[in-house]
Amino acid sequence: MQSHAASAAPQPSPRKTLRFRHFFVRAMLGPRHSSSDECYASMTNDPDVRIDPKGLYTNMGWWGDGAGDVTSACEALLARVARWARIDEAETLLDVGFGTGGPLVFWGRASGARIWGVNRSQDQTAVATTLVRNDVAGDRIFPTRGDASALAFPAESFDAVLAVEAAFHFATRESFFQEAWRVLRPGGRLVMTDIVPSSEYRGLARLCWWIFDRFVHAPAANRVTAEALRIQLEELGFKVELDVRTQETITGFFRWGSHGFGEPLARIACGVIARLFAARPPVECVFVRATKPRTVPSRGV
Ligand SMILES: C[S@@+](CC[C@H](N)C(=O)[O-])C[C@H]1O[C@@H](n2cnc3c(N)ncnc32)[C@H](O)[C@@H]1O
Repeated sequence: MQSHAASAAPQPSPRKTLRFRHFFVRAMLGPRHSSSDECYASMTNDPDVRIDPKGLYTNMGWWGDGAGDVTSACEALLARVARWARIDEAETLLDVGFGTGGPLVFWGRASGARIWGVNRSQDQTAVATTLVRNDVAGDRIFPTRGDASALAFPAESFDAVLAVEAAFHFATRESFFQEAWRVLRPGGRLVMTDIVPSSEYRGLARLCWWIFDRFVHAPAANRVTAEALRIQLEELGFKVELDVRTQETITGFFRWGSHGFGEPLARIACGVIARLFAARPPVECVFVRATKPRTVPSRGV
């Protein structure tokens, strides 16, 4: 899968610096958002607060294989998810929380599958619709607006359901798991990368989650450890594999940010956060593959 990355980090201008600071100060001091919509509207419509300079992706990326810039790191993460989900064997995929549509196009080009997307952000869905319309794989990709906890698809519609760095936003992640179970075919898999509190560092993890909630909206109901998340999925009947990969994702992103961000205060903050995460992460990035068995045991009363 070839990267369509831009290589250099954007240079700061006084206007960009001000816009960037305004975004963060407003997130910390303004009212708590009741959803992630406002945050993603800013990131989508304002190039000054975007992380991926191309505006294609909104994830922290996979830095474990030496990616040199955000766009390539994001694509490396999506390629890993594609392998975990075995998208080359899939006829139908659903991506929940597709951002600005970059992941839909990336997976569309990497497979022959028909791909539906669901996103609650109106602004991002509009951008994704235009992106898809102009892509070679666009006639197989269908971005729609909707909510992860009420998927508008019939039961057993998909071979794989994907959610990259999105489920911590959902109200709630657990109700999304129920929906994923319903729309997956027997043998289908839910593959996600997600953010969870670390199990051993409760005080700082709570503080970290609070800050996180201020920036991007993360309901308290989703503040459960990777092992608790495993139990939620197993109780539904999924066979679960977990892989905690915080260093290659969150730490790698902040390490890049410590020199890659144009905004000087953001560089300093990223350096501090990268050191904290390298030593003892308060929250973790977990890769999840939850497979729906081919034969589902009947649930007697
Ligand atoms: C961190 S971004 C990840 C975007 C994309 N997966 C990527 O890797 O570029 C999280 C996404 O989840 C979406 N989202 C948040 N809450 C949602 C919900 N309840 N239902 C569907 N999408 C939601 C946001 O609008 C945003 O697009």
